[in-house]
Amino acid sequence: MEAIRWQDNALLLLDQTKLPLEEVWTRHTSYTTVIPAIRALVVRGAPAIGVAAGYACCLAALEFHGRPDYPQRMEQARRELAASRPTAVNLFWALDRMARAFDACVGDPGALLEEAKAIHREDIEMNKAMGEFGAEVVPPNARILTHCNAGALATGGYGTALGVIRAAHSQGKVAMVYADETRPLLQGSRLTAYELVKDGIPVTVQTDGMAASLMAAGQVDLVVVGCDRMAANGDFANKIGTYGLAVLAHYHGVPFYTALPSSTVDLSIPDGSGIVIEQRAGDEVTHFAGHQVAPAEAAVYNPAFDVTPHHLLTGVITEKGVIRPPFQVNLARLFG
Ligand code: MRU
Repeated sequence: MEAIRWQDNALLLLDQTKLPLEEVWTRHTSYTTVIPAIRALVVRGAPAIGVAAGYACCLAALEFHGRPDYPQRMEQARRELAASRPTAVNLFWALDRMARAFDACVGDPGALLEEAKAIHREDIEMNKAMGEFGAEVVPPNARILTHCNAGALATGGYGTALGVIRAAHSQGKVAMVYADETRPLLQGSRLTAYELVKDGIPVTVQTDGMAASLMAAGQVDLVVVGCDRMAANGDFANKIGTYGLAVLAHYHGVPFYTALPSSTVDLSIPDGSGIVIEQRAGDEVTHFAGHQVAPAEAAVYNPAFDVTPHHLLTGVITEKGVIRPPFQVNLARLFG
């Protein structure tokens, strides 16, 4: 399954706001339309945002190549893309990489496209490596709980947390995946369940508030989630609700892992307090499928992500292996 394609000098994005009912691809020939697509979650998930931003730089290069102010236009395009969503570090990582490539190839659009394709290809390779390492921590007949969507749709392909689940499933180890619905935008029920059903992996959808009773009933052997940004000490931002799940897992003695590629690690931030958390529009909470479900007078709290402190983590699954505490030391050793 894939959600991002480059075809005939255009970026094609599978519109994730319409899944699972409609599979509609949007076509982008200007970087300016990629920005609202990222904001609206047409393309979403930390690594996928980075991949899309890489290709968006190629669209800008095709548009501005040959103009006297080409380098300035490219810098402006990267600045505008960087302002689309603040939390996932992969966006900034990919834009920095494209900026370095621009300098190295003196703005050659063909070389920039090769770089964007490399970002895309390497992301899939990292996910597959992560899947192999992660499958080793999955016990036989595992009942695995996940939150949001950290699958093929959220990445260049294959997935981080769902990559681990895919690899474990191919080894016959997965009895059931419990997918948190993930309010307010339902990435769990709409996207994770969609991916798993397509792959023939058994999946049960429950609302976010039901995870506690599942754990209390002894139905969860392992939690694996994705990550939008990990600080140097192992604190990490992921979809809102992840922190609550980590507390629940700790209370019930359930191993709790996050899976991430090195492009999601931000060693420049010492701990989770430095991660900018995106606040989204209130109507995502007050409205459901176009219907108002809260009084218009009510105030709304709608952060898109929360920060899980590193001491609630059992391990971090990466393309270089599974990192155990002390995370500060071991993250620096692998990614410093
Ligand atoms: O708001 P979203 O849908 O972009 O949030 C996505 C997540 O929180 C994912 O878990 C995270 O980006 C990791 S995806 C491999």
